[in-house]
Amino acid sequence: MKKQALISLFMLLALASCSKNDETAATRETPVTTEQPLLKKAAPDGIKVGKDYHSLANPEEIKVTHISLDLTVDFERKVLAGTAELEITRVNPEKKRLILDTRDLTILSVTADGKDVPYILMEPDPHLGTGLLITVPKKARKITVAYETSPDASGVQWLTPQQTAGKQQPFLFTQAQAIHARSFIPLQDTPKARVTYDAIIRTPKELLAVMSAANDPNTERDGVYEFTMPQPIPSYLIALAVGDLQFKAMGERTGVYAEASWLERAANEFEDTENMLIETEKRYGDYSWGRYDLLILPPSFPFGGMENPRLSFITPTVIAGDKSLVALIAHELAHSWSGNTITNATWRDLWLNEGFTTYLTYRIMEFIYGTDRYNMELVLGAQDLAADIASLPEKDQILAIDLRGRDADDVFSNIPYEKGALFLRELETKIGRENFDAFLLGYFEHFAFQSITTEQFIDYLDDTLLAQYPQELNKERILQWIFQPGIPEGAPGASSDAFAIVDEARDAWLQGALRAGDIDTKNWNYHQWKYFVDKLPAMSIEQMSELDAAFNFTGHQNNEIAHSWLLHAINNDYKVAWDRLYDYLTSIGRNKLVKPLYKALAETPEGKAFAKKAFDVAKAGYHPLTVKANEAYVQ
Ligand code: BES
Ligand code: ZN
Repeated sequence: MKKQALISLFMLLALASCSKNDETAATRETPVTTEQPLLKKAAPDGIKVGKDYHSLANPEEIKVTHISLDLTVDFERKVLAGTAELEITRVNPEKKRLILDTRDLTILSVTADGKDVPYILMEPDPHLGTGLLITVPKKARKITVAYETSPDASGVQWLTPQQTAGKQQPFLFTQAQAIHARSFIPLQDTPKARVTYDAIIRTPKELLAVMSAANDPNTERDGVYEFTMPQPIPSYLIALAVGDLQFKAMGERTGVYAEASWLERAANEFEDTENMLIETEKRYGDYSWGRYDLLILPPSFPFGGMENPRLSFITPTVIAGDKSLVALIAHELAHSWSGNTITNATWRDLWLNEGFTTYLTYRIMEFIYGTDRYNMELVLGAQDLAADIASLPEKDQILAIDLRGRDADDVFSNIPYEKGALFLRELETKIGRENFDAFLLGYFEHFAFQSITTEQFIDYLDDTLLAQYPQELNKERILQWIFQPGIPEGAPGASSDAFAIVDEARDAWLQGALRAGDIDTKNWNYHQWKYFVDKLPAMSIEQMSELDAAFNFTGHQNNEIAHSWLLHAINNDYKVAWDRLYDYLTSIGRNKLVKPLYKALAETPEGKAFAKKAFDVAKAGYHPLTVKANEAYVQ
């Protein structure tokens, strides 16, 4: 590292250690008052900064600090059954009632230090679930809840052997983000309360259990698996999967868990993971979590990836054979810093997780694959962002989004990701890359293992970058980025030479100057293809056929390109591709890939009838979240 960078890093650390942000600030609720004119202007009326509107729990009164799980995985009944023992600390010694979040749990008993204690299940709330109100005896330190999950738990998917790659054994996985941990553990389900945990998971003998915790790749397969997570994590990072899993090492600290038939392919596709880890550590500080492994899930996994600590959960739809979609791995790995080490205090602050992570993803892609790849990824990200800015209502274009009264899952968009990343890229551009990297390193260290609000981040900026770079940065503009819709004028752009060639070819073809078969695509990479297809306008059946004849898009095996093409096939009524569309919808459950297709189909009665047919067949294999996100399109 250059001397100058070292000096500024030192200054940052010194500044950071005397900053007014401290441990207690992480859980403090700051009502917006007139003493804070900037915040009053920034946050909507009445919003309580730091209040989690998506949890019923009361960690500011009695805090759960550690969870010990002992759960039996019952594939026959599709339930997890057992106990959660919660270690508590009284923040306010006057308070006697512990409120836990639950959803669709059957509570069998609640005991404190071995003795039954009174409890009440509150009236269920459709978004938040059911509060479990426990009267805690004065001296109690441990509360044990015996419970069972429902087969329909929103955070658990139970797969039959038929729905797995191997077809012999069942599979189970959990997905807790944003507020689904409560459907498989009674707990304080808010990202501002962090816990350590340990677990005993009992499974059929042939299966392996893995968790977002220390996993021993060489563990004996005897159906009883033990885990510990010694670092305090938010509840949405507690995760479990059980299946006929094998392990293959990719590097010293990295490896992959998958069903046998995916294992080799996955390990090859993601072989750069160890290097990503090393390169990220060089800039942003040591990786805090020990091992970093990947778990490849069945195709019904509703997301691309989930950053469960030490063990990211990954969709198999990104195993393309050419590493073209590995930005997803960079993304989940980056969360080990932005998200898992520093966490959003509430879901309003999600952009602190996803915006920083998206920014880091781009950087990691450049570290590993170079600047051309970086530029292409940036342009594709900018395209996604522009689409959301054009279509979302203004209130949903705000980084610090007001989620009061809304379902945390319903407001998922490119805003926290791409707008968040673009904001950070602007800071980087204004103060210089090295300086910005030094800032990030200081930020990750300063707030390590804390959950913070947007306002704490702004305070930190005040103390660091805004003080250091008064010429380059402007507070009003920063607040505009965070609290106003749209993209501030003059934000950094993105361009790629590799895409200029594609634009030329596409234009020439659209103008009739070139036949599709004559486009020189020999050296095109995935990103160029994706960009070519994404930016095709409305087309005639003849034009669609010509492209298909030249490039076989309907049969394309890359799931992202197939997705983009199938969207055109729907919008242009190109029925030739609808068999493929049916296969796609019934074999993939990743919501980002299927939802836009259902949405487009729902635009016409014929499309809707087709969507209904596919959905009815696919539904049994979809994750509850994918079902919920799409059922409105087929009503
Ligand atoms: N943490 C997210 C997934 C998530 C976010 C689940 C909010 C539930 C609520 C994960 O890191 C993610 O962003 N996944 C993306 C991948 C990515 C490369 C943008 C996905 O799944 O598409
Ligand atoms: Zn993410």
